[in-house]
Amino acid sequence: MNRDELKKAAAEKAVEQVESGMVVGLGTGSTAAFVIARVGELVAQGTKIIAIPTSERTAQMSRELGIQLGSLAEYPRIDLAIDGADEVERSTLNLIKGLGGALLREKIVAAASKRFVVVVDSEKLVDHLGHHTGVPVEVAQFGWQATAAAIEDIGGRPQLRLREDHAFVTDGGNYILDCRFDVIKDSAELERKLNMTVGVVDNGLFVGRTSQVIVASDTGITVLENDRNPRG
Ligand code: 5RP
Repeated sequence: MNRDELKKAAAEKAVEQVESGMVVGLGTGSTAAFVIARVGELVAQGTKIIAIPTSERTAQMSRELGIQLGSLAEYPRIDLAIDGADEVERSTLNLIKGLGGALLREKIVAAASKRFVVVVDSEKLVDHLGHHTGVPVEVAQFGWQATAAAIEDIGGRPQLRLREDHAFVTDGGNYILDCRFDVIKDSAELERKLNMTVGVVDNGLFVGRTSQVIVASDTGITVLENDRNPRG
């Protein structure tokens, strides 16, 4: 199977958990797009859900498929959120997210969800976070250079994310600094340190939030459960 077929397989497995009457958080990215497509099919067949989108992109795709959208103002508690990830640490199911630029809304939706299910192909599994990718850090536009300098002080190498020669701007109107760290030994501590840095809005380390990871590989689907997650 090619990578898209693997993403689709993981996405469709996760959507088996969607039931009529649920409030469902919908993630952002190419894997999440397969989730949204499958949810669209269920809705067309009569399943009734309210979806909370994690980005304008996801909201638009959902509308096009006739999926009813709600907001966290109306539905502050979400039954199930399904999203992709950039890296999944095998031993903890902690994540790096945000290469698609939606990390802030994704983290808010994950935090509001009773159950947070992550869908990936097997190339996203790593022994230690930061193996392939830096940590995306969403920062206020004002004084971002000072925020970047403060991130250097805690061991990061920040780079302003660009899109076509301009700074990439998130749905929340912020910039993203992609920050490489030599080794991320303690992701909980790094998540905390980054979020204590003035100017940081949030960062792409998702620590202790994952309920389950559905991994698709050429040998089939593997479901990794987080037994330590109190949300189940
Ligand atoms: C967007 C994200 C995505 O979930 C992550 O980037 C994975 O994307 P893809 O499924 O396209 O590889 O965090 O902010």
